[in-house]
Amino acid sequence: MDHFQHRDGILFAEDVPLPLIAEEVGTPVYVYSRATLVRHARVFRDALSELKQPHIAFAVKANPNLAVLRLLANEGYGADVVSGGELTRALKAGMKPEDIVFSGVGKTHAELQQGLEEGIGQFNIESEEEGYELAAIARRFGKRAACALRVNPDVDARTHEKISTGKRENKFGVPLDRAAAIYTALAKEEGLDMRGIAVHIGSQLADLEPLEAAFGKVGALIKELRAGGCSVTHADLGGGLGVPYKAGEELPAPAEYGAMVTRLTRDWNVQLMFEPGRVIAGNAGVLLTRVIRVKRGIERPFLVVDAAMNDLARPAMYGAWHDFEAVEPTGEKTIAHIVGPICETGDTFAMDRKIDVLAPGDLAVFRTAGAYGATMASSYNSRGFVAEVLVDGDRYAVVADRIAAGAIMDAERVPDWLIG
Ligand code: LLP
Repeated sequence: MDHFQHRDGILFAEDVPLPLIAEEVGTPVYVYSRATLVRHARVFRDALSELKQPHIAFAVKANPNLAVLRLLANEGYGADVVSGGELTRALKAGMKPEDIVFSGVGKTHAELQQGLEEGIGQFNIESEEEGYELAAIARRFGKRAACALRVNPDVDARTHEKISTGKRENKFGVPLDRAAAIYTALAKEEGLDMRGIAVHIGSQLADLEPLEAAFGKVGALIKELRAGGCSVTHADLGGGLGVPYKAGEELPAPAEYGAMVTRLTRDWNVQLMFEPGRVIAGNAGVLLTRVIRVKRGIERPFLVVDAAMNDLARPAMYGAWHDFEAVEPTGEKTIAHIVGPICETGDTFAMDRKIDVLAPGDLAVFRTAGAYGATMASSYNSRGFVAEVLVDGDRYAVVADRIAAGAIMDAERVPDWLIG
């Protein structure tokens, strides 16, 4: 459920009519709903209520806006970060260092050091090599780094191949059959407090079976480690729960996920950790755009909107579907291609889509754009960075300014020796 609803023929975000935001902030603009974010955060937490003190770390990559992170910190969420930049953000937004988990296959020396200096809660180590590097830094600092070892369970998440992470050929985690040996070796390092296992098999999962298969393997590994004398007190089950991108699409509810996890982990005797991203933020945001023109096509018209693949990359990158709706629908429908202004054919949001009839100047939204939307924006074609707005009841705030192409150019120089 979200808080983007039509009232008297106009689409509102909570109690704010979207035409007002378009007028005052301009388009394209991401609009997030505070009530929806809070609702999703609570629904996910409630789904895990049978577990003993689960730790929930929002996957910052899904929506790193400082206001969004602050709101989630207020809900008791921690953060799952994958770079020094995300770590800095999470801290700046008010997340407690001990509630932060550092994931990622390529943490640099400087990033490992930053994590240690900030006193973060857990490093999710993705390789033996990374473990030894962290151990050496920790020793130098006279610290012990709390760590989970991320395993690659070789499970097909049955999602888009580019966001599938748990198959043996993927770069993530250590192979399951080597995990016990690596864990045991790293546990001997005085700089490391090896305390758990982490797993994350992919994103936008449409069914729970692959997760169940992966978690089953983690459970068996925990038993094996304990039998071998290792201590295991934590298990991080990652993120991955999918969200509906098409009206009417059925996906497993957080409650079903929670029930599955509760059943599977009953005798694990660990503190469970989670890294949800999309399920919290996805349906809490829309990308508001204005129609530039309707161009006659050979079979169908091209609806050219002012948002483009640099603002919302998912359709171009993954062929992803985002529902598209007029802000003030007339009730009339047509079939059209929806495209942005960027100079490549990949800048296509939809082909042959049944949509509301729209005219130049009209407003529309791409739905389910709150996760992996603004965060993946670029300034390609010198279009600048898209703005972001957070609505709360009948008020809203611009939570990220539009960064104009000119401001980006301010960081560029032409060396003297090129100026004749
Ligand atoms: N934990 C780890 C280690 C991850 O790599 C990810 C996502 C998550 C948690 C959060 O997963 P979620 O709950 O959001 O599914 N840009 C792509 C999605 C990439 C996901 C990367 N990792 C997209 O737009 O679909």
